[in-house]
Amino acid sequence: MDNSKIKRYTVTAALPYTNGPVHIGHLAGVYIPADIYARYLRSNKRDVKFICGSDENGVPITLKAKREGITPQEVVDKYHKIIGDSFKEFGVSFDIYHRTSSQTHHQTASDFFKTLYDKGVFTEEVTEQYYDPSAKQFLADRYITGTCPKCGNENAYGDQCENCGSTLNATDLINPKSTLSGDQPILKETKNWFLPLDQYEERLRTYIESHKEWRPNVYGQCQSWLNAGLQPRAMTRDLDWGVRVPLRDAEGKVLYVWFDAPIGYISATKELCNYAKLDVWNPKAEEYYINNFDSDKCGWEEYWKSDETKLVHFIGKDNIVFHCIIFPAMLMAHGDYTLADNVPANEFLNLEGQKISTSKNWAVWLNEYLREFEGKQDVLRYVLTATAPETKDNDFTWKDFQARNNNELVAILGNFVNRVMVLTHKYFNGSVPTCMEITPVDQAVIDELASYPAKISASIENYRFREALSEVMNVARLGNKYLAETEPWKLIKTDEDRVRTILHLSLQIAANIQVLIEPFLPFTAEKLMNMLKNGGNDWEDAGSVNLIKRGHDIGEAVLLFEKIEDAEIDFQIAKLNQSKSTNAANNAVVTPAKENINFDDFSALDIRVATITAAEKVEKTKKLLKLTVNTGLDERTVVSGIAEYYKPEEIIGQQVSLLVNLAPREIKGILSQGMILMAENSEGKLTFVSPAEKFEVGSVIR
Ligand code: MF3
Ligand code: ZN
Repeated sequence: MDNSKIKRYTVTAALPYTNGPVHIGHLAGVYIPADIYARYLRSNKRDVKFICGSDENGVPITLKAKREGITPQEVVDKYHKIIGDSFKEFGVSFDIYHRTSSQTHHQTASDFFKTLYDKGVFTEEVTEQYYDPSAKQFLADRYITGTCPKCGNENAYGDQCENCGSTLNATDLINPKSTLSGDQPILKETKNWFLPLDQYEERLRTYIESHKEWRPNVYGQCQSWLNAGLQPRAMTRDLDWGVRVPLRDAEGKVLYVWFDAPIGYISATKELCNYAKLDVWNPKAEEYYINNFDSDKCGWEEYWKSDETKLVHFIGKDNIVFHCIIFPAMLMAHGDYTLADNVPANEFLNLEGQKISTSKNWAVWLNEYLREFEGKQDVLRYVLTATAPETKDNDFTWKDFQARNNNELVAILGNFVNRVMVLTHKYFNGSVPTCMEITPVDQAVIDELASYPAKISASIENYRFREALSEVMNVARLGNKYLAETEPWKLIKTDEDRVRTILHLSLQIAANIQVLIEPFLPFTAEKLMNMLKNGGNDWEDAGSVNLIKRGHDIGEAVLLFEKIEDAEIDFQIAKLNQSKSTNAANNAVVTPAKENINFDDFSALDIRVATITAAEKVEKTKKLLKLTVNTGLDERTVVSGIAEYYKPEEIIGQQVSLLVNLAPREIKGILSQGMILMAENSEGKLTFVSPAEKFEVGSVIR
């Protein structure tokens, strides 16, 4: 889009499903880049609305509610708060974090549908859809899984295959299965309203092909859908959770979640513009009072219906078809809406070499991170930007997180700022010294500094945030190099004026970093502002050596970043390993149950807490240990087949469960009196069954 034409920006970040907290994959893919972009635009004094909210309709919500035994509303209330709070604490600077269960949204989505309906856009079709007779429910989207007809993935959903990214109709699936009952569903007739995407194919092609500047992954995906030929797609569903279809003969039907969710951007903008107009904040209820809500007069339309507005959608790659094909087709059908100028979708972020998975708890959750790394928002923002999966999938590892913090944030950025602060206090009492004579070395630094803002701007405006951040770090590297070359700590005895110039310019570099790093690391920028006691500069000031005035008193030096120790990283890795073993346990083959016994059979067993007091290997055997145990009744010998799992010296003092009234028997010439209870997994691995705390020996287990 021609830059001179742009009057305002509408920046959207994909509305997260409100069925769980957000994790680093979401942050790296969507929310951090979107926030950098929005903050950058604000720093450039551009008119921007940065829009997000909770995606609260759709099957993922109802499935979660079923699993947890609560209502869908309770699910979305819970996660809307968790997600909203953690975004705020993480410094994601949405102008509004709205929600699609709100009245404004229901009204907006419903009106949108009605407009399309009245224009005769939809085709009404009675089709056979899958139905689960035992759950008495039609199955769409995530209520149904099966084999993807395109790639053979056995766990494709009714609306999408997450493996190959294809959008599907439930009836495309091979071997469909209801996620409610696990049964094979039956086909039953139902009426739904379809958006004839095929009729928009040519207009969509013209639109997409006018955006050759889009990322290759986005452009390429769009091309392959268009080339495959678009099919009509149902925009309504037989479900009881969502936005009701605003038609008479549509009892029990709601809008397809991918119809209503992107309209959520529009309803959020309406609400935002209204707030801005009303400006009546109720601190107790933590919400705006909305009196006389009149969405049409609030000015939202400028942000959606003007060709002077640049609309940018930040999304993950699994959302491309919805934002580049279906939503634009909806907007075209409606008329007078602006289409997105760019859709910078990211690839996926993996975690320690494995795909992030909510169900396997293979993730770093934002709300947990904020608790465990208090005040370290910017470290995660930094690492996730520096490793952002902009052009290909990427991997997050805790070791890399630690290394980037210690070797880059602490050693490059933190170190530069700290040296400048400390030296200024030491030599000039914390007052910005005057710039004296400029040498060629200084001039080179001044020139290089001046070149950064434009470079960084170009990277950001082309959605290359990794590159932009590394350029900002180069400004800190420039500062370090300057100090290392000029060595003011050596010159101070002989040439104080020279030191004045060096520190003056170094302080200018620090003040530049404050401006340039703000979109990326806003907390660091704020700390720098407090340290330098210097606010008020924005992007257009950057590049100059006049950001901080001579004679100005700077504040105290505080550390921008702290070293992250091994223990903190080991803790995180242990947490992930915990998920791994839980998953392994959940996937374990479980031995079938035995026949029932009666209670008397059970009470015939005399099982006690006993402590191992001595242990040695039984000679010429691989598996056997000879144990001496204190049973509280006596000391006795037990032979146990655990030598592959426990070393004798490690288990002295170990408490175990011992069947004490098992008839004694001889094993390898040793009389074994009783049996130690062991848990055995499907691979035959053994582990002790012990009391959960140190317990008196002889205690009865029953
Ligand atoms: N909830 C969807 C997801 O997490 C994203 C919705 S984006 C919107 O994949 F445009 F539909 F809002
Ligand atoms: Zn597939």
